[in-house]
Amino acid sequence: MCGIVGYVGPKQAYDYLIEGLFRLEYRGYDSAGVALQDGSKISIRKKTGRVSQLADLCKLLPIHGTSGIGHTRWATHGEPSDTNSHPHTGGNGEVVLVHNGVIENYSILRDRLRELGYVFRTATDTEVAAHLVAHQLEEAVKLGDDPFEAETCVRAVESAVRQIKGTYGLAVMFRDVPGLLIATRFGSPLVVGMGRGEYFLASDASPLVGHTKEIVYLNDHETAVIKADSFVLRHQDGSAPALSIRALEQTSRDTDLGEFDHYMLKEIFEQPQTIENALRGRLDDEEATAKFGGLNLDPQSLGRIDRIVLTACGTSWHAGLVGEYLIEEFARIPVEVEYASELRYRNPPMADRTMIFAITQSGETADTLAALRECKRKGHPTLAICNTVGSTIAREADGGIYLHAGPEIGVASTKAFTSQVTVLTLLALLLGRMRHLSHPAGKRMISQLREMPDKIRQALKCFDAVKDVARKYYTAENFLYLGRLYNFPVALEGALKLKEISYIHSEGYPAAEMKHGPIALVDEDTPSVFIAPRCEIYPKVMSNLEEVKARKGPVIAIACEGDDKIAELADDVIYVPDVDEYLQPLVTSIPLQLLAYQIAIYRGCNVDRPRNLAKSVTVE
Ligand code: AGP
Ligand code: GLU
Repeated sequence: MCGIVGYVGPKQAYDYLIEGLFRLEYRGYDSAGVALQDGSKISIRKKTGRVSQLADLCKLLPIHGTSGIGHTRWATHGEPSDTNSHPHTGGNGEVVLVHNGVIENYSILRDRLRELGYVFRTATDTEVAAHLVAHQLEEAVKLGDDPFEAETCVRAVESAVRQIKGTYGLAVMFRDVPGLLIATRFGSPLVVGMGRGEYFLASDASPLVGHTKEIVYLNDHETAVIKADSFVLRHQDGSAPALSIRALEQTSRDTDLGEFDHYMLKEIFEQPQTIENALRGRLDDEEATAKFGGLNLDPQSLGRIDRIVLTACGTSWHAGLVGEYLIEEFARIPVEVEYASELRYRNPPMADRTMIFAITQSGETADTLAALRECKRKGHPTLAICNTVGSTIAREADGGIYLHAGPEIGVASTKAFTSQVTVLTLLALLLGRMRHLSHPAGKRMISQLREMPDKIRQALKCFDAVKDVARKYYTAENFLYLGRLYNFPVALEGALKLKEISYIHSEGYPAAEMKHGPIALVDEDTPSVFIAPRCEIYPKVMSNLEEVKARKGPVIAIACEGDDKIAELADDVIYVPDVDEYLQPLVTSIPLQLLAYQIAIYRGCNVDRPRNLAKSVTVE
C-alpha cells in the first residue's frame, strides 16, 4: 500500500526521491523516509506524518548521494512512528531497505535472527527482511564470497526472500557496494524507469512521469539489479526473463490539481470526459453493439458463456453489482458478484463456461489479484476491467477492458466507479446483442450512451444545491442511504463515500429492506438519503420515503428534474437529469459523491487522505 522510490545515476538522488514521494503520498501517508548513499556512507532521514514534514527535516539536515531509496508508509505492523518508518537497516547498517507488503512469518524469522544476535529496534515486520538480507550476506562472506561484489548482494537478497512468507516489494541498498540498487517483488508492484546513464524505481508509474518514457514492470519473483550504467533483470530462480520495455503514457497534466482544491473534486468533475473516454471507439452503430479491442476472445467463446462472476473490492464491487443488474437484464446471463477477499478462499462450483471478470481501478488490489489467480488456476478465462495500464492484474488477466479514466489519486474512488459502470453497460450491450437483444434496442442504448457525458455535465450542476444540504446535515452522526433496483448499489456506494472521508457512520440498503431492521435507526437526527429518480417502482420508493417521514427522519431525495411531487415529501431535494433506469447509477452517483465531499470539507476532514485508508490495498 506504501509508495517506494529509488534512483541510481549521476544526479543528486534526493530531488527525484522527494518529488516521487509527494506523487506517491496517496498510497500511504503514515510516515515517510529516504536513504541516500554517498560513497560507502548511507544516511537516513525519516519522519512520522506527511512527506512535507520529511522534506522539512531534510532541509534542516540535508543529505547527499547519487543513489537512494524512499518510502511512504501505510503501517501494517507497528504504529506510525519515526522509528517504525522506513528505510530500515539490517546487521550493523550494511543493508538498508524499504518494503511494501506484509511478512507473514516475521515473528518466527525474528526469533531466529534474535538468537543469531541481531538486535531489533522497531516493531515492524520489515526489519526482519533487513536483518535477513544482512545475515545471508554474512553467511555468503563466510563461505568466501566477496561482500564488495554486486552478485553477492543479489544472492543475499534472493536467499532472504526465499524464506519470507507474505508479500513484498523491496528496494535494497548495500553500504559496501555504492551505486547498487536491488529491487524485487512478490505481490507488491514495482516498476523501473529507464534513463540515460540513470535508472528510476517506483511502486507505480506516477513518479516516473517527466523523467523517462520507457518503463519495465517487474513480475512476481523477478529481481532488478540496477547500477547507473546497467540494468539486469533476473528471476529469483536464476533464469533471465525477457525484458519487456513499455512506453509510459501518463503525463504530468494527469496528476496536476489544476484549479481544484482536492483530487477528489477534480476527479468528480472529470467524469463527463472520463465517461467519454470509456465509450470512445467502442460503439458499433452498424451492428448496434459494443466492441472491445482487448477481450482476446473470439465471438464463439463469448457466445458460449453461460455464467459470469464479477469479483472486486469496495467501490469496484459496487460497480460489479450494477453490472449484475445490467448483464442479467440485457444479456440474460446469470451473474454473481463476489467479494474478492471471499472468493480467493471459497470454492464455489464454476462450470467450464463461466467467465470471470476482476474489476479494479488500481489493478493492484491484493485480494482481487489473488481471486483472479485462483480462478485462473482452475482453468477459467479471466478478464479484467481495470484503469491502470500495465498494472499486475491488467498483465495477468487473459484479456480485458481498460477504463481510460486517467490516474485516480483521491483515495475515495469516484471517476473510476462511473467508468466501470459505463464499461459494464457496454459489456451488457455486447453480450445482449449476441443473444436476445434486438437491433433497435441496441441502437437505442448506443444513442443513450452517447448522451451520457452531457447528462453528467448537467448532473454536476447540482453542486450548489448539494452544498446547501451538506451545510444543513454535516454534524449528523449517522446517515442511511436507500435506493432500489439500479439505485441500490448506488446507495451502498454513497454510504461508503460518506464514511470513508467524513467518518460518519452510514449504511446503504435497498429501500424496502429498511423495514427489516435499519428503520430502528431512524430518528430526528438521522438523515436518510433516498435515491429516488423516476422508475417503474417509483410509487413503492415513495411509500418507503413516507415510512421514514412518519418516524420523523429527515429525508434528502435525489430525484429527476421536474419531479415536484417529491419536494412536498422530502426535506431537501437534489435534482439530476432524467435518464433511462439502467443508466441512472451514472447520474445519481454524482450528487452522492459531491455530498460526501462537501460534508467532509465542512467537518474539516482531509478528503484526499482519509485516516487509516490508502489508495491501493496491496496487502491482504
Ligand atoms: C473506494 O472509495 C475505496 N477507497 C476502495 O473501496 C476501493 O474501491 C477498493 O479498495 C478497490 O480498489 P481497486 O478498484 O483499485 O481494486
Ligand atoms: N508492513 C510494513 C510496515 O508496516 C510495510 C507497510 C507498507 O506497505 O507501507 O512497515
